[in-house]
Amino acid sequence: MSEVQRGLAGVVAGTTAISSIDEQTGTLLYRGYPAPELAASCRFEEVAYLLWHGELPDRAQLSAFEQAERSQRDLPEGLAEVVAGLPLSCHPMDVARTAASWLGASEPSPPSGPEGNQQSSLGLLAKMPTVVAMDQRRRHGLEAIAPDPGLSYSENFFHMCFGSVPGPEALRCFETSLVLYAEHGFNASTFAARVISSTLSDLYSAVTGAIGALKGPLHGGANEAVMAMFAEIGSVDRVEPWLAATLGAGRKVMGFGHRVYKHGDSRVPAMYEALAQLARHSEEGRRLMALYHRLEAAVREAKGLYPNVDYVTGPAYHLMGFDTPTFTPIFVMSRVVGWTAHVMEQLSDNALIRPLSAYTGVARREVPARSSG
Ligand code: COA
Repeated sequence: MSEVQRGLAGVVAGTTAISSIDEQTGTLLYRGYPAPELAASCRFEEVAYLLWHGELPDRAQLSAFEQAERSQRDLPEGLAEVVAGLPLSCHPMDVARTAASWLGASEPSPPSGPEGNQQSSLGLLAKMPTVVAMDQRRRHGLEAIAPDPGLSYSENFFHMCFGSVPGPEALRCFETSLVLYAEHGFNASTFAARVISSTLSDLYSAVTGAIGALKGPLHGGANEAVMAMFAEIGSVDRVEPWLAATLGAGRKVMGFGHRVYKHGDSRVPAMYEALAQLARHSEEGRRLMALYHRLEAAVREAKGLYPNVDYVTGPAYHLMGFDTPTFTPIFVMSRVVGWTAHVMEQLSDNALIRPLSAYTGVARREVPARSSG
């Protein structure tokens, strides 16, 4: 039997020019730029442009890009009806996944080629926040709020969720999360998207599959699992007994560990800084930060594990007022950029992704005689 790498750990499954991890520092780089530095000095729209086109936009390019995104935020009526009609019992990630699939179905012959895929990607980016906001509001019995083309991507999302735009710290924190979430190499959902694209299926199918992969708590679903965990722990004095019981039962602590980063996730310091600024203003913020620090220290001591970015975005989104099940769909609003960049890269030099498996079942045997009737 050839050697099998469980979970493809350590396997280099292809090449990419979109992002990498700096070997010296472990920093995530987007097209060569450190992602935390981009988060400090760029808006999400600029980073989306960079990931898709390879270079940061100049002023004119950014303006044209923003105008195109802002003009496509409205949902087609049919999609708004579909979102409104989905059962409230379904998870918001199911709504996001259905919306991506619906958008593909509404274009029976989606434009193809690099130009067409670029258009479809921009449409998905522009419409996903409208879907997520509408879904969060309907769960509170509230009418949808129409997108405002006068607002940036982040500002407009808050406007559609809450009818107002928050102060600079919450906006900065949200924008930081979108930049840091936008792309991360061959993670599970991006790899799923590349596998689907490699069959020459369409971009919407790839994004629909990627949303399904992101939903799981070992991947994007961890940000909401972190909040559920904080709620379960309840208070600082319960951290150590809770952790002992969790590890004793063989359960994982959400928001810790990473397949690639074994000495800390390079996105955490920038995200932490933004969270800390936000949290200091409220009682709930201070309560959460106390839990955050105590659990971080306890997990480090017990398992030598470091937090990943979801450990930070979970409490940040909570403090911004989002419902916990909305956290992973917010991740979708950002990662859709990375997924579609990879779909386009895959198609530019495609080879069907079809690995082998090592068989572990029963050996060859005779089919027993069967009576036919
Ligand atoms: N809590 C407790 N133990 C953990 C852990 C966690 N969050 N993450 C890893 N470990 C332990 C494993 O139990 C295993 O221990 P063992 O060798 O004693 O069995 C060891 O660390 C290696 O873990 P493994 O799951 O094999 O590593 P991986 O590279 O496959 O896992 C993750 C990476 C992300 C799936 C894993 O760290 C995890 O499940 N984290 C929690 C979910 C999460 O936050 N996901 C978001 C990722 S950005």
